[in-house]
Amino acid sequence: MSLGSRVLPASDPAAIAEAATALRAGELVGMPTETVYGLAGDATNPEAVARIFAAKGRPRFNPLIVHVASLAAAEDIGAFSDDALKLGARFWPGPLTLVVPSRATSPVAELATAGMATHALRVPSHPTAQALLAAFGRPLVAPSANRSGHVSATTAAHVAEDLAGGVSVILDAGAAPVGVESTIVGLAGQRPTLLRAGAVPRDRIEAVLGRALAEPAVSETPEAPGMLASHYAPRARVRLDATDVRPAEALLAFGRLPADARHATAVVNLSERGDVVEAAANLFAALRALDRRAAAIAVMPIPETGLGEAINDRLRRAAAPRPDQTER
Ligand code: TXA
Ligand code: MG
Repeated sequence: MSLGSRVLPASDPAAIAEAATALRAGELVGMPTETVYGLAGDATNPEAVARIFAAKGRPRFNPLIVHVASLAAAEDIGAFSDDALKLGARFWPGPLTLVVPSRATSPVAELATAGMATHALRVPSHPTAQALLAAFGRPLVAPSANRSGHVSATTAAHVAEDLAGGVSVILDAGAAPVGVESTIVGLAGQRPTLLRAGAVPRDRIEAVLGRALAEPAVSETPEAPGMLASHYAPRARVRLDATDVRPAEALLAFGRLPADARHATAVVNLSERGDVVEAAANLFAALRALDRRAAAIAVMPIPETGLGEAINDRLRRAAAPRPDQTER
């Protein structure tokens, strides 16, 4: 695989063709999706899957999300219950991932599921992801295109920053429109379970199912980065629910700035008008920007409503103590 990555405009059909060729050669592609950028590889090629873990510097082989072009393609890989079919029909293409039992005939490399008897499947709605899936013709595994444990990448530049060298082609489609990862719903157990809060708010899923989503039992959560308490971590220390700014802190704001915002070493406002959708779209770029400017980040309170649940989930993980840097 070539060392440098080529950043190509996603709107150019030749770029899509070039990315598909790279995927066929077992190389990796930075793929924009509606949520965040993915580090995509051929789901059926174990070497490509292994390269993904290597490029991300993942501590161990965690299960990856398999991206397919349609619900029909997803049904070739996993077994869909009535609930799974309802959710797929309602939210795909779109930012929802469904964990379903694997079919014995699944073409997906075992390494991609980390040996689990389930698959996490999603049909992305982003036109570039759809174009790439169509050109490639096979399922793509794609974790978020960031170094392991780092905040997710929402622009082509973030991908290049984190993964240059590991990725052959980065398709540049501008900022990812949603900005937080897909919601993950587990449908392989007794009850539909919210495995990861994300881009589709819980209440919209519950409305389709006609009942509440269960919280995962500890045994249901794989040892996976999205589940680790300290995942999505910037280098800076993160202080949540801040109503003031302390010395040397940068401020991650939401809504109206507090009076002492002018003392902050840097300020990024996720949404001046207090809109959680706008805030989600800005979240990871804001964390990256402030991380470059300060050793501590104060985060203003963000409501738990709608996408607020996913935003706060990511922020709590960013603020969690890290085994390797508890003092930072
Ligand atoms: O929005 C997204 O979902 C992005 C874009 C690129 O599609 N992808 C993403 O992938 O966030 P990643 O690898 O960063 O997160 C995948 C999550 C992990 O937390 C993992 O535990 C979970 O999916 N996962 C994958 N397979 C699973 C399975 N069989 N059972 C339970 N969780 C699973
Ligand atoms: Mg991730």
